Amino acid sequence: MTLRHFLDTQDWSRPDLDALLAQAAAFRAGERSAALDGRSIALLFFNPSMRTRTSFELGAFQLGGHAIVLQPGRDAWPIEFEAGAVMEGEAEEYVAEVARVLSRYVDLIGVRAFPKFQDWSADREDRVIRAFARHATVPVISMETITHPMQELAHIQALWQHFGGATPGEALHGRKYVLTWTWHPKPLNTAVANSALQIATRYGMDVTLLCPTPEYLLDPRYMDRARENVAARGGSLQVSHDPQEAYRGAHVVYAKSWGALPYFGRWAEEKPIRDAHRHFIVDEAKMALTDRALFSHCLPLRRNVKATDAVMDSPSCIAIDEAENRLHVQKAVMARLVAAP
Ligand code: CP
Repeated sequence: MTLRHFLDTQDWSRPDLDALLAQAAAFRAGERSAALDGRSIALLFFNPSMRTRTSFELGAFQLGGHAIVLQPGRDAWPIEFEAGAVMEGEAEEYVAEVARVLSRYVDLIGVRAFPKFQDWSADREDRVIRAFARHATVPVISMETITHPMQELAHIQALWQHFGGATPGEALHGRKYVLTWTWHPKPLNTAVANSALQIATRYGMDVTLLCPTPEYLLDPRYMDRARENVAARGGSLQVSHDPQEAYRGAHVVYAKSWGALPYFGRWAEEKPIRDAHRHFIVDEAKMALTDRALFSHCLPLRRNVKATDAVMDSPSCIAIDEAENRLHVQKAVMARLVAAP
């Protein structure tokens, strides 16, 4: 039997994703489960977290299981990922031993490992989680690397919840969806933007990627996937650099900031371009152009930088529902993976 990891929603069929979302909706409605009774998950955080850590730990507990949080390099040994390395540096053990040992203890392994922000050609290989997936003998779950699949599911669940409909596909197909870049003082990970692009097109929405200049387009892997999803599922994909045009008639506005990939590792050169686009903030004037759009963000969010107080506190903001849904979708994913095939 092939081991089934959850590294990317694109590896899972639409019926699989719909089933996970239906199970998550049942959990949100109060269904109880002991799917993880006597089981455990190791949660490896190479980067900080509030929502992911809390919702995974709590989700495992609510399913009758146990979660163990490890922060390699902080409260666990630093790990080497380079095959054949002469380990004379900081790392005390190689990923193969870590993944194999954890697999003897736990039933699932979650990994959060952001890019190093120096060389995108290396970061786009997603080496940390891919190494865990290669060496582990239990399912590995992405808790955000260069995509954020759990956020994707929580986002779709929140949209489904608010638009209504028998299925997420029925709720979302043909909706106008704007993924807007926003300013941030630092160049951030493209993971959530990659994820939003691929899941919105997967659900047949008419997607506009709004960003300051062509340099802020996402990696071709995700741009191409989005086009493939449009070909397979209907909907559309367009790119805009004009907020007025992009927001007009939108049903969903999803905001995220990210660094421009051509400047990866040379961020001082990117900064003047980024700083010239502070006006991409999500505000009431832009939201007024929409068709009473729902607004969301993965959080954390810097208020009055990415979105104004008025937008965050408006009834159209569903970011808190999306954050809550992290708990429900992750319970659905953990239950599904331990029940494999
Ligand atoms: N959205 C999200 O993953 O939040 P954390 O970084 O707090 O886990």
